[in-house]
Amino acid sequence: MDVITRSIPECHGNRPVNTQIKQRIAENFSRAAHSYDNAAVLQKRVAARTMLGLPAQLEKKNAPNQIQRVIDLGAGTGLHSLTLADRYSDAMITGMDLAMGMLEFARQNAPDHPRLSWCSGDIESVPFQSNSIDLIYSSLAIQWCGFEQVLSEVGRVLKPGCSFVFSTLAEGSLQELNTAWCLAGERDRVNRFDRFEAQKQTVARSELIRQAFSLKAETLYYPDVITLLRSLKALGVNTVLAGKHGLVTRRRLDALKHAYEPLRQPEGLPLTYQVIYGVLQKPF
Ligand SMILES: C[S@@+](CC[C@H](N)C(=O)[O-])C[C@H]1O[C@@H](n2cnc3c(N)ncnc32)[C@H](O)[C@@H]1O
Repeated sequence: MDVITRSIPECHGNRPVNTQIKQRIAENFSRAAHSYDNAAVLQKRVAARTMLGLPAQLEKKNAPNQIQRVIDLGAGTGLHSLTLADRYSDAMITGMDLAMGMLEFARQNAPDHPRLSWCSGDIESVPFQSNSIDLIYSSLAIQWCGFEQVLSEVGRVLKPGCSFVFSTLAEGSLQELNTAWCLAGERDRVNRFDRFEAQKQTVARSELIRQAFSLKAETLYYPDVITLLRSLKALGVNTVLAGKHGLVTRRRLDALKHAYEPLRQPEGLPLTYQVIYGVLQKPF
């Protein structure tokens, strides 16, 4: 894949895993690049919480274990890569993403930042050297990948003793939308996510040491179904990883509205995300 700015890391090569689906993910996120930040209410909230798990920068100058090389996996528009650059004022930050549209937006948003670079790549096969990275951050991106493969890659590229700080989604996310689609007679319209316990077991099987791994539900409310669906589209999260993807016709939409309405709460139509927050360390 292309590296679109300076600071070119070693290319590890990409194993083509579910290439067609990844292409669709990349296309949908690229299309959403200009609407993403405005629509990313939950994603900003989750990123702020994910960052609570970041290790402190060492104050001692030129300390041998000072954080110098940071990767933001699935960086999207790069908003949080910028925050990482502020947080680690001596570090080089690379925002990596599958979607060229996102990377292009990120690059234009921070054109001359001396410590930020953007890199096209796949989290399941990251284009970085083994034992080369001091900190890996990722918020709400790795749910689009195989968790086991992600942990294997993270374990490969982190330096010993360094951390992976991340958030991802667990089973129960988008549950209300899934229920409403099922009641409307449509299955496989919404992505499924692995159980929290299953993901915990995947961590236990990996070489990484679990320092934190918790689950927190976040619910957003929408005035109506159309606003809810538009918001998902504006975020680019409208790729379905499995099952059929027929057009949403007027009749199907009416059935969805009808099925969602009984779930309405005083704040509006709920849409819940089960968010996993994790901090894992590569052993020394
Ligand atoms: C929901 S956005 C999150 C963006 C950003 N981290 C944030 O917190 O706002 C998910 C991002 O992950 C990227 N992504 C999905 N699958 C990926 C993969 N296999 N490799 C790299 N990036 C991927 C998408 O292109 C998208 O930009």
